[in-house]
Amino acid sequence: MDKILLIDDETDVLYAFQRIFESPAIQIVSATSGEDGLKIFPKARPNLIIMDIRLGEMNGLQTLEKIRELDARTPVIMMTAYGTTQTAIEAMKRGAYDYLLKPFDIPKLQRLVQSALKASRDMRQSISLDTLEDPADDELGIVGKSEPMQKVFKLIGQLASSHATALITGKSGTGKEIVARAIYHHSPRSPNPYLAINCAAIPENLLESELFGHEKGAFTGANALRIGKFEQCNQGTIFLDEIGDMAMQTQTRILRVLQSGTFERVGSNRVIEVDVRIIAGTNRNLEEAVANRSFREDLFYRLNVVRIRLPPLRERREDIRLLVSYFLKKFGAHSNEPKKTINSDALEALERHDWPGNVRELENVIQRSLVVTKGEAILIDDLPPEISGQHQLPDRLAGSKELPASPEPAAADELVPPQIHQLFLWAQRSSDLKIMPAIEREVIRLALEQTEGNQLKAASLIGISRNALRRRIQKYGIVRNLDVQ
Ligand SMILES: Nc1ncnc2c1ncn2[C@@H]1O[C@H](COP(=O)(O)OP(=O)(O)OP(=O)(O)O)[C@@H](O)[C@H]1O
Ligand SMILES: [Mg+2]
Repeated sequence: MDKILLIDDETDVLYAFQRIFESPAIQIVSATSGEDGLKIFPKARPNLIIMDIRLGEMNGLQTLEKIRELDARTPVIMMTAYGTTQTAIEAMKRGAYDYLLKPFDIPKLQRLVQSALKASRDMRQSISLDTLEDPADDELGIVGKSEPMQKVFKLIGQLASSHATALITGKSGTGKEIVARAIYHHSPRSPNPYLAINCAAIPENLLESELFGHEKGAFTGANALRIGKFEQCNQGTIFLDEIGDMAMQTQTRILRVLQSGTFERVGSNRVIEVDVRIIAGTNRNLEEAVANRSFREDLFYRLNVVRIRLPPLRERREDIRLLVSYFLKKFGAHSNEPKKTINSDALEALERHDWPGNVRELENVIQRSLVVTKGEAILIDDLPPEISGQHQLPDRLAGSKELPASPEPAAADELVPPQIHQLFLWAQRSSDLKIMPAIEREVIRLALEQTEGNQLKAASLIGISRNALRRRIQKYGIVRNLDVQ
């Protein structure tokens, strides 16, 4: 369950929150002053604090500072009325997660709370480099005894004690994000914040200001000064996910932060110093991107000092058994039913499968199978047909290469919604932003990725003509960046 601590002296706000977040998954505790909030905080251990900027004796900024001294990992959202945004911006410089204007825009409030709760979970959930016997809510394990995974564990251990940059590469669902979090959790920076940013989910022209902030009037739509993630996450760790999708101009700024620990907000000349550890991740082939000049060579070498390669699951089949047992325990822990197991036929089918969606696909399959299984053990019939091998392809296609043996929608399914969701967040911040082209570009990129660059198949996959696809590929300049193997 997520716990939110609300600090506000107006009781109306508390009632409003109780209505908006009425759910068994969220508990709201409240305080009416900064002093009161600070007393409750260590006992309640909330996952998120939402606090008014104007409080009685001890104001919001002072309270924020005290909270961060106690625990810099609990995200704090400031609430502010029009006219006090200056203070809210000041709060962000001091590490507040974000701010909200009163009166609330409820859908925006809900989205912001969800994203802050996710950030909070990322920081809190400890990550063990082992199979956990009894995984709890605030713990995750990275499982693997295969040789490549043992190498990964060794590198995580070495990286954890240093401040070095790391580059994590691997196909979708291989565990890049969980490895990034493991490095953070085992590092001396673990008491400080961690933020994960998906570079592919934010339109190119906005990523720079998301990361580095912008001055008021820096570009159309920049109505107020904005503090970027680097400034906000000072002393912390930033995971730049999908860095291969980052525009050149932003790459240049990242290189500079890596080299000198400095940057300027967009539209400003003032040099700001930060101390942030960068971890980067990508499912692209960066060597190829360097060769075709869509990725800076100097940045690549700077990131590539320590490289963690996560192999596809099919190249470490001996881990499948362990992962299955881990996921059974993990999902079993959240249910009241008796613990379930898996029978040997079903397990063998899982060990044979090719897993194009990698560990994420396996995790989803176990979760779904647990729902359909009637008895104590998952049987082969409980598995999806493309895994149990019990689906019959029409004769015409059997054995032919027309259709992939197991069309894998999981990766696309999982990738698109959060990205679209983030695009909406952006659209709300800057009303003249055109998000449809960004969504279209992403869908086309995914379709081409899934069909390994086959335009005819990609076009039919997303229901447009080949000509229409070609026009869009040209318009968005997609083909050059595509990581086709
Ligand atoms: N070795 C592992 N042990 C346990 N769980 C794992 C392991 N690897 C991945 N997972 C789980 O699989 C899911 C996918 O992992 P993660 O999100 O880290 O992959 P990713 O490489 O970042 O994927 P994408 O490129 O799609 O973002 C997560 O739920 C993660 O917890
Ligand atoms: Mg990821």
